[in-house]
Amino acid sequence: MRHPRILVLAGSARAGSFSAKLAAAMTKEMALADAEVTRITLADYPMPIYDGDLERDKGVPEAAKKLVRLFQAQQGVLIVTPEHNACFPALLKNTLDWMSRPGAQDRAGNNPFQNRIFAVSAASTGQLGGTRALAALRPVLELGLGALVIPEQVALARADKAFNAAGGLCDMQSAGLMRAVTRRLIDEASRYLS
Ligand SMILES: Cc1cc2nc3c(=O)[nH]c(=O)nc-3n(C[C@H](O)[C@H](O)[C@H](O)COP(=O)(O)O)c2cc1C
Repeated sequence: MRHPRILVLAGSARAGSFSAKLAAAMTKEMALADAEVTRITLADYPMPIYDGDLERDKGVPEAAKKLVRLFQAQQGVLIVTPEHNACFPALLKNTLDWMSRPGAQDRAGNNPFQNRIFAVSAASTGQLGGTRALAALRPVLELGLGALVIPEQVALARADKAFNAAGGLCDMQSAGLMRAVTRRLIDEASRYLS
């Protein structure tokens, strides 16, 4: 039986990032459920701030093209984001913006945000767990980029106190939500296996 390939990335490249920690916990959950999971850090995909003049003169950064190809090799993508001033961080928006440019696409022009399923989750040291970042990210993915995003999500509040020594979630309710997101993502991603 073939297992769906799922890419996991966090919207923070910070060492010790809580969204990266949640991404790691969700990666583990999906690997145990027999998905073929790849977790990356955006630190390995550096891009300048989007600038139309730069795009005209130098084209789309190689990192954006690489990410597009990586997305295209997946049946599912999970994005775990922090919250910056009630939104998701500029790092993530900049990455998505560059990836959306025609110069980042393959020759066939396959949209890396379509023909696969997306899930989003968030971690924040605040009490709302990044719910506002998720509310901002969903329309960007769905309306801006044409992605299909599952409704389940984790919004992990007080992320600085939310993890146990093994990197799992201390709170049973959050752990249950994490299971719901990862299971649904794997189920939906399986439909895209050809
Ligand atoms: C510029 C900035 C703005 C922030 N704004 C919010 C916010 O609006 N809501 C929130 O819950 N946390 C906010 N935070 C706290 C971050 O969510 C918290 O530091 C989180 O751990 C950062 O993500 P990371 O650990 O994955 O790097 C903000 C942090 C920064 C640096």
